Amino acid sequence: MTYLLPRSLTASGNIALILAFGDLSYLEICATMEERLSRSEHVLPGVAFAETKQAGGYEKLAGVHKVAVALTAKPSGWTASMNGVREFLKAYDKDFNFSVSLYSDSPVTKEEYESTIADFLAEVREAGFRKANLIRPGNGTELLARDVVARKIIDFVVVLRGHYWTGVTSYVPDVQQFQLRSNERPVVSSDISISARLAKLLLNVSGVQKGETVLDPFCGSGTILMEALLLGANALGVDRDPVRIENSRRNLEWLRKTYQVEGRSFLLKVGDATQLEKVIPGLQVDVVVSEPIFLPRIDFAPSLEKARKLIKNSSRLYSEALYSIAGVIRKGGRVVLVVPSLRTTAERDVSVLLEDVQEAGLKPFRPAQHKFEYPVRISGENTRWVRRMIYVFERV
Ligand SMILES: C[S@@+](CC[C@H](N)C(=O)[O-])C[C@H]1O[C@@H](n2cnc3c(N)ncnc32)[C@H](O)[C@@H]1O
Repeated sequence: MTYLLPRSLTASGNIALILAFGDLSYLEICATMEERLSRSEHVLPGVAFAETKQAGGYEKLAGVHKVAVALTAKPSGWTASMNGVREFLKAYDKDFNFSVSLYSDSPVTKEEYESTIADFLAEVREAGFRKANLIRPGNGTELLARDVVARKIIDFVVVLRGHYWTGVTSYVPDVQQFQLRSNERPVVSSDISISARLAKLLLNVSGVQKGETVLDPFCGSGTILMEALLLGANALGVDRDPVRIENSRRNLEWLRKTYQVEGRSFLLKVGDATQLEKVIPGLQVDVVVSEPIFLPRIDFAPSLEKARKLIKNSSRLYSEALYSIAGVIRKGGRVVLVVPSLRTTAERDVSVLLEDVQEAGLKPFRPAQHKFEYPVRISGENTRWVRRMIYVFERV
């Protein structure tokens, strides 16, 4: 993790979180930080505001690009915003690189962005920094988190919704660790695996605690189980394919050695996820997190008829699996399940819908004070026809 500014400058609990996966990232924030937040609001598709009771607490989030702290007490007019910037600059005594990332509720023209950065530049020069460099984003109005870190940039953040929320990026998560894990483990199967980052996000949404047990009943090569061990949980994997179980074993053993994970166990079983009580008799788990996409390879957009047929076939398996999962999870435990949605030639979405779950003893998970309509989409994915969506249930 990377803190970009001294703690003394970032003590404010008034923060903006720049979201990597839209709604899903906001769900992660609500599910993991509930006790630390006095208030939060998803203000733009890619931005949430929050008021933390004490600074920090966002370091465990997997779904944020950046966290910025406010430079003014509340959203305000431009003059007050610039006063906040002026105050902030007093903490600096030598030149620096800086950028301005602008997020808005309406499209921003090039002229508007240029005029915004011109005001920042004027403020910086006025404060006596003659050689401070303004770094422009390669594209659009936002400097990417990785550039902020790589080039040690003071990244001013403006969120425009009628008023200006003005702040400065104070923290950027280390996302390289996820890529390293995904690429360096013994069995890399990018065709079936989700990213380690998304796996961690889903585990965060499950609310799993250290020492608890996570079940992935369609574990594939074990991406979710690996992240579960790293979070201090025990991992239980089921897959009907013995080769996949062997792949998971190799990946988990590698993880244990490489990350010196101690005091946590993993157990892997070949078996059918729709018959869990037989596969793991007598075992009860705390949470279930799984990403089983049951679709054949799709190389072009399907017709509506084809999409409906494919989704109908896979829906049956999801329903059966849900009943089976409900039989092995403790009361109050959460089930986080990724399901597919297909985009047809006519750009219609046909999705797996998991309804009537109360019969199985499950209810949709609703973090306090927030309404989430399930399934929650993962925005920011670059897939074309198959998209992923998330359901979260709680065992009644
Ligand atoms: C998309 S993969 C899961 C990938 C996993 N999330 C990862 O990152 O490695 C789906 C897995 O479900 C398994 N599977 C399909 N039907 C199953 C069933 N009825 N019971 C158990 N496993 C099943 C397949 O063998 C496959 O490994």
